[in-house]
Amino acid sequence: MHPHHILRVLFTADDIAGRVDALVGEIGRTCAAGSLVLVGILRGSFIFFADLVRGLFYHHLHPRIDFTLLQSYGSGTESSGTVEIERDISVDVRGTEVVLVDDILDTGRTLHFAVELMYAKGARSVKSCVLLDKPSRRVAPISADFVGFTVEDVFVVGYGLDYDSYYRELPYIAELTFTHPGAAGGQ
Ligand code: IMP
Ligand code: MG
Repeated sequence: MHPHHILRVLFTADDIAGRVDALVGEIGRTCAAGSLVLVGILRGSFIFFADLVRGLFYHHLHPRIDFTLLQSYGSGTESSGTVEIERDISVDVRGTEVVLVDDILDTGRTLHFAVELMYAKGARSVKSCVLLDKPSRRVAPISADFVGFTVEDVFVVGYGLDYDSYYRELPYIAELTFTHPGAAGGQ
């Protein structure tokens, strides 16, 4: 038998679409139109990011966009504790208002690292937007400015989130269950 499978759907495609709309409204009200740069943290944010960006159009926000590929999980089941830049941004963020977008705020190591990185590159302000927040898992001192849904300490997949690079295509967010004790990791 497959060592992991979908246990239950936590958020349907409609739930997500409604929440993304609300987040777009919040970002539209909070961020100035002038020098906005949206930075997606790959890979998990790619679907969320695309939906957010299209929503911002209707709020007359026309950000520049870029992506960074950050890895915080080792090859196995445990967070490695260090974050590595696999692919850096190329947009010059000096003096700009950056909004970092990630799929899930878990230990917080990735987002904390990314916020520091944007400031180090000269951003004037750095905010963060995550689809999911797992506050019970937090290690790094960070919270997000815009949060889609708060979730319990369960491993979730879908709408961009993966397990071992699978499940990203699911239009909904679901809890994954493991029949063998072990491993929940991903990036
Ligand atoms: P961090 O622990 O906050 O640094 O999160 C690192 C990355 O781990 C996130 O960007 C996700 O890609 C991944 N991650 C954390 N929790 C989950 C989960 O429940 N499902 C899928 N990926 C996860
Ligand atoms: Mg990720």
